[in-house]
Amino acid sequence: MTALPLGPAATARGPLSFTHRFVPATDPSAAPLLLLHGTGGDENDLLPLGRMLSPGAALLSPRGKISEGGMPRFFRRLAEGVFDEEDVVRRANELADFIGEARAAYGLAAPVAVGFSNGANIAAAMLMLRPDALSGAALLRAMVPLANPPAGSIAGTPVLLLSGSADPIVPAANAARLAAQLGARGARVEHRVLPGGHGLMPVDMSAMRDWLARTAPAA
Ligand code: MLT
Repeated sequence: MTALPLGPAATARGPLSFTHRFVPATDPSAAPLLLLHGTGGDENDLLPLGRMLSPGAALLSPRGKISEGGMPRFFRRLAEGVFDEEDVVRRANELADFIGEARAAYGLAAPVAVGFSNGANIAAAMLMLRPDALSGAALLRAMVPLANPPAGSIAGTPVLLLSGSADPIVPAANAARLAAQLGARGARVEHRVLPGGHGLMPVDMSAMRDWLARTAPAA
């Protein structure tokens, strides 16, 4: 992704419980975005995407704490698409706690998550385990993170799930199952299957911008 200048206000911070970057809002009415990278990404990856999606929003972008052969992730997996669910639970709680710390430190409303692949999967897990952590979520190429998540309510929370019809990593039935899990908990799920694979495409951007403009709660 092309690097966009983010200005001197983009800070790298360590004292909170995740290495992260934070970009303050220039439009205080825009919902803050929590940017969650995919496997092998880091806290810098999705800042340009966040800036394009919502130009004035605060951006909070943590780095996953798991290292898989040097590639950061948000939770452990046993194989491609096979997750260590105990670790998913632990890491989703840890990330939700970080969001609470960052909200207090930076004076933020509950953010809307924008997660790609592994980042989308941890966001989906947080929605089901810590429903107050997020005010909404755009899940890009997400799959089911927990086979049997606990019952809970995320009534009214807007969720956009964007899948690829030819995604070699996420089977169509798996993405549909995630949409059903979230819908059963009351989320306002929009699930779109786009003609493409696991990678992001321009249509993902336009779908997210449109969804954010329609549904994101003001901060
Ligand atoms: C990935 O490579 O990140 C997977 O597709 C998703 C995951 O492991 O969470």
